[in-house]
Amino acid sequence: MEPFRFHLFVCTQQKPEGVASCPASGSLAVLDNLDHEIQARGLDADVQLTTCGCLGLCDEGPVMVVYPAGVWYRHVQPSDVREIVDAHLREGQPVGRLVWNDAPAMKAMSAEHREKFREAMAARDKAGMLPDRLDQMIRGYMPSRCLLTALELDVFTAVGDGATAEQIGARIHANARAVAMLLNALVALGLLAKNGDEYRNTRESARFFSQASKDNHRNGLLHIANIWHRWSTLTDAVRGGSRIPLDRDNSPEWTRDFITAMQRNAKDRAPHVVKALGTAGVRRILDLGGGSGAYSIAFAKASPEVRCEILDLPEVIPLAAEYVANAGVSAQVRLRAGDMLTSDLGSGFDLVMLNAICHMFSEEQNRGLFRRIRQALAPRGRLAVQDFILNPDKTGPLHAALFSLNMLVATDGGATYTEPEYTRWMKAAGFSEISRVNLPGPSGLIVARVE
Ligand SMILES: C[S@@+](CC[C@H](N)C(=O)[O-])C[C@H]1O[C@@H](n2cnc3c(N)ncnc32)[C@H](O)[C@@H]1O
Ligand code: FES
Repeated sequence: MEPFRFHLFVCTQQKPEGVASCPASGSLAVLDNLDHEIQARGLDADVQLTTCGCLGLCDEGPVMVVYPAGVWYRHVQPSDVREIVDAHLREGQPVGRLVWNDAPAMKAMSAEHREKFREAMAARDKAGMLPDRLDQMIRGYMPSRCLLTALELDVFTAVGDGATAEQIGARIHANARAVAMLLNALVALGLLAKNGDEYRNTRESARFFSQASKDNHRNGLLHIANIWHRWSTLTDAVRGGSRIPLDRDNSPEWTRDFITAMQRNAKDRAPHVVKALGTAGVRRILDLGGGSGAYSIAFAKASPEVRCEILDLPEVIPLAAEYVANAGVSAQVRLRAGDMLTSDLGSGFDLVMLNAICHMFSEEQNRGLFRRIRQALAPRGRLAVQDFILNPDKTGPLHAALFSLNMLVATDGGATYTEPEYTRWMKAAGFSEISRVNLPGPSGLIVARVE
């Protein structure tokens, strides 16, 4: 029995620029519209929508196939989607003008395409051409930089419900000619649409990058734009072995963007951490480098008996206070300005949390911190370290390996570390019952108890 009434495959095979492909003829917009229309008509339970690789009919794209009957569509445009959903997916009647049922021609075209593709690959290989994967990796910063600049200039908010390059330039106080170049590149990247002289946000850009949206991520993402400048010092940092100081670091704006970014990540992770650690027997928590306070807030909300103390740098405390007050848990969460490497940590805590902290510090600093945390814990108290944890050989996961370099360019001695390293340091500080909890997402949790 088929689990779905219909299963749609939409070809989204990316190809080098200038080569015919379904994405080049609009399959990503078709996919987006299909997803939207299927949901809007409540057909999710009956219709499975998936992407697929090249079907060998690239000149006829966008191509999609509807199973179980095996109906092939070609030249599908976003404006055709409603008709396909209504006629085919609701009424069971394929849209005849778009159906392609000349099986011998399709087979011949697909075979010819395969042959040409193999020949082209062999010719490229023989000529010693750089593989596309490497070429894309080398130039990968260009799309990223385009989007970061658009976020810095708040372009997507300025586009609003649609505007010309001149109007957008005036709104963001930038040069009209250069703004037009940036807008055109954003269209090419699929982040804006253009109709005549008018630019419009895509559904995604309007949702995630515009101030008018409740799901706007711009403020948190500005931190990525800030650390882009640090990444440009990577070559010198690798040569010299430590970060290159930049004038723009640690301004009040930098700190606000940083804490906004931390809050964006932490508010999603915090419920998982609370669930993994539990609140049984937990009355007093020390949240070292608590940042926005997201983890303390989550614990306070999970149990009215929990009292948290956030220790963070003086410039961060007013920002944390704002989040804590907005969450309505000020009575349970105390804030203290200090330096966790040198300030008195206090005593009698049931739980000390180091969320996204250890990567800022060197091995020696972490070992020292663990020893002082042990003294601050009540008998049977726990230390919880949440971080990007490297595999024992340090070559993955990719995010953790790249984040180690993020720490090279951003801190004096920081890095990402492995589970065996954390375990060694914890044992040396007098902890036992060390266990690892895998959380959803890129970070892991290592928990240890005072002996
Ligand atoms: C990467 S953020 C993590 C914030 C928070 N724990 C979270 O996961 O969202 C690091 C935090 O540690 C704070 N911090 C850095 N060095 C510190 C120090 N020496 N003493 C206290 N806090 C520090 C920063 O201000 C920032 O809030
Ligand atoms: S790229 Fe879609 S059929 Fe080839």
